Amino acid sequence: MKILISAGPTREHIDPVRFISNSSSGQMGYAIAAAALRRGHEVILVSGPVNLPAPEGVQLVKIISAADMAEAMKKYFPECNCCIMSAAVADYRPVQVFDQKMKKSPGNMFLELERTEDILKSLGSMKKSSQLLIGFAAESENLLANASGKLARKNLDWIVANKLSDGFAKSTNVCVVLGRNGEEIPFSERPKTELAEGLLDTFGI
Ligand code: CTP
Repeated sequence: MKILISAGPTREHIDPVRFISNSSSGQMGYAIAAAALRRGHEVILVSGPVNLPAPEGVQLVKIISAADMAEAMKKYFPECNCCIMSAAVADYRPVQVFDQKMKKSPGNMFLELERTEDILKSLGSMKKSSQLLIGFAAESENLLANASGKLARKNLDWIVANKLSDGFAKSTNVCVVLGRNGEEIPFSERPKTELAEGLLDTFGI
């Protein structure tokens, strides 16, 4: 199979040296990419800025912003059998991006933010019935209800739900995988490299 995977954070620049981002390490997406390569699949990995080596044999596409990631994912998705969206995409970006480093001035400063594209939702609307689309949900409360809402809203086949306290930027993860046919498969805490194998088994790839 040809598998498209997104990983890591995005950066939304305010000026040339400042940005809004999150603490995603990219480990989960890179582990899934490595596991898929070991199984003989062709893998395109669209990655935000992370401190991880590219798995051997992967086609690595480096991006910075949510807009860059949206462009790359929509470009490669039509030629892939499966897409796993594990990136922690910024939901908002600054309305104005300054060309020069911003100077401070007296008083408070207000930053106006606008929504970024929901990439997974866009892919869900492009998806053909032969394609598998898998998302992640990082929730701090109402894990299963929120994740199953996203599964339906974004037209996904599977969603990997994890509590924010459990997985972000750690080398292990605990999660529940929900399927579009009502499946609910819990995974106890284990290294992300091991979880990646269990997830691919579950997705049948
Ligand atoms: N995602 C995406 N594009 C965005 C935001 C998120 O493609 N702009 C994807 C993530 O990669 C993940 C899934 O959507 O696979 C869920 O992301 P999450 O941030 O947990 O949920 P949101 O859809 O942003 O919803 P909410 O903010 O309500 O939790």
